Amino acid sequence: MFLSKITLLNFKNHESLSLSFSKKINCFIGKNGVGKTNIVDAVYYLCLTKSYFNSVDQQNILFTKDFFRLEGRFQKQDGAFEIVYKLPTNKRKELLINDVAVPKLSDHIGNFPCIIVSPDDSQLILGSSEERRKFLDGTISQINHEYLEWLITYNKVLAQRNAALKRFAETRYTDKHLLESYDKQLIPLGTKIYEARKVVMQKLQPIFQKFYKQISLERELVNFAYYSQLNEKTFDELLEGSLNRDVMLQRTDVGIHKDDMEFFLGANKMKKFGSQGQQKSFIISMKFAQYDLIAQSKQFKPLLLIDDIFDKLDNDRSQKLIELIAGSEFGQIFLTDTYDAHIRETLKGREDLFEVIGV
Ligand SMILES: Nc1ncnc2c1ncn2[C@@H]1O[C@H](COP(=O)(O)OP(=O)(O)O)[C@@H](O)[C@H]1O
Ligand SMILES: [Mg+2]
Repeated sequence: MFLSKITLLNFKNHESLSLSFSKKINCFIGKNGVGKTNIVDAVYYLCLTKSYFNSVDQQNILFTKDFFRLEGRFQKQDGAFEIVYKLPTNKRKELLINDVAVPKLSDHIGNFPCIIVSPDDSQLILGSSEERRKFLDGTISQINHEYLEWLITYNKVLAQRNAALKRFAETRYTDKHLLESYDKQLIPLGTKIYEARKVVMQKLQPIFQKFYKQISLERELVNFAYYSQLNEKTFDELLEGSLNRDVMLQRTDVGIHKDDMEFFLGANKMKKFGSQGQQKSFIISMKFAQYDLIAQSKQFKPLLLIDDIFDKLDNDRSQKLIELIAGSEFGQIFLTDTYDAHIRETLKGREDLFEVIGV
């Protein structure tokens, strides 16, 4: 799959911008604040129906304008696709593919797969467990369409159950039948989500290890583990055991919404003991493993977006990273940097691979 052309109208700082792309490495080069990340974000948006950086859709409209429009021309094995998003101020966004409206945005997820690496990803290690679940869910949703539906329904029922628990505290009456009816819905959904997460974590591990070795030149050992309350007990048993606590806390204290991942550098926690460069290498390897897994499942290569390519990496690791992305494992790539000298130097003799786009 590749993106041949993009047009941005009033998207973030870009009033009107049209760009054509090469099939391999497209480098957006320019000074701070010119809008490189915003172009990468537009590509992400076309693929995954939202901004990676600003989840408040309306804030992606250029200040003082009353709409934004994004257009992308994609080429896939089964044909050409013109993807258009329109977002007027204070209205819902519209997605059109080849001029036909797509009523359910979640149906689009996974059809135009895309992986992003950005300096903000440090949150994957340093942030709350929600960040790590988002990573897992973002991976599985692009592979398994049903998964996203399970997740959306699970979260809806969970919110209803939590609202009921709050109400019970106010009315001083606990309706156990109502809780049971929510549990009946949550148990199969939560169990399926858990199983899917477990399988994907297992599949990610060897691919992740391979990439980390390459990027770090085998200087350190890393690992990750998946934590879920469902590792110990069935969801059924967990809910039953937590009933009194849930009523007291006025929220559901067990389930896959509590899942987390733990990252290790040797025997220590990456979060505490990893240097910034080691953490960055870890994240890149996770993202590349995500890429590989999605590519295997789709039988074609997703888009790869790398914002601030050399962020936090030393020269050896930067060189390794460039060698990796210049290889045949990856398809079309979009990256950003402030100067092109570094990229030109590391890709010397391979000028056919990359296109420099001044922003
Ligand atoms: N809705 C918006 N309207 C206008 N400008 C915006 C909007 N959202 C973000 N920006 C601006 O876009 C500018 C460029 O951002 P960015 O793409 O991150 O630059 P770069 O990656 O080139 O350093 C920032 O100064 C930011 O304030
Ligand atoms: Mg930037």
